[in-house]
Amino acid sequence: MKMEVRITTLSENTANYGFLGEWGLSILVEAEGLKILVDTGLSFSAVHNAQKMGIDLSTIDRIMLSHGHADHTGGLREVLKITGEMEVIAHPDIWTAKYVRRNQETAQYIGVPFPREELESLGARFNLAREPVRITDNIMTSGEIPMVTVYEQLENNLLIMKDSVFQQDPLADDLALIINTDFGLVVILGCAHRGIVNTLRHAQKLTGQELVYAAIGGTHLFRASDERIEQTIVDLKDIGIQKLGVSHCTGFRASARLAQEFEDVFFLNNAGTSFMLP
Ligand SMILES: [Fe+2]
Ligand SMILES: [Fe+2]
Repeated sequence: MKMEVRITTLSENTANYGFLGEWGLSILVEAEGLKILVDTGLSFSAVHNAQKMGIDLSTIDRIMLSHGHADHTGGLREVLKITGEMEVIAHPDIWTAKYVRRNQETAQYIGVPFPREELESLGARFNLAREPVRITDNIMTSGEIPMVTVYEQLENNLLIMKDSVFQQDPLADDLALIINTDFGLVVILGCAHRGIVNTLRHAQKLTGQELVYAAIGGTHLFRASDERIEQTIVDLKDIGIQKLGVSHCTGFRASARLAQEFEDVFFLNNAGTSFMLP
């Protein structure tokens, strides 16, 4: 089926002229007549930037949360105030207490910054699933992403609190949105904590579509070793990606390397960016 996909980035660490930048991510995806909001940014920048772009968030059809971290879920309250009743697709582990350890002494809470009840009172209807959720025949969430590459590892400073003990966060809640178009897969990444290559390989497997046209969003390479960045480049070339729009937790060093390797395939996907695929 002939398909067009519009991708509009409402919130991101860096902003285009006239928009607010904020550490986090929020991407509006329009495909097959649906408007799906992937993540909501850290606070009010997604709502602010949507208004600036003339986007009426009361017309969105779904929200998908890529994981529980506050820089992706913190804007949810502001968005729900505009949408009212709304299906929010996510993995059940978004509700585990999540922390980051920035030094030996302290761990900072970085989980969903609102009680579930408050969000539900504003209209959130949580659809929590470990499995992929099919939104249309061609649009689905990834469900849990298997970690198969050797070099894509979780960060050991990202933690959960379980039975009063800090443990490494397995980030099983890390989801992507997959759109299976006639020109190939379009994959929207949140942080890609489980690895961009793991995510794209999983999307190929789930859909039976080998062609990956675009990956847009966070790649979590900002603290990656040179070795991981280089391996990622090799595998992205093997996958044959046509558009690589990185955001958020990609970081300067990985972005520079990817830009150098992928030339016109690469772009920085900042707040205020809006384009149509293919
Ligand atoms: Fe994250
Ligand atoms: Fe993030």
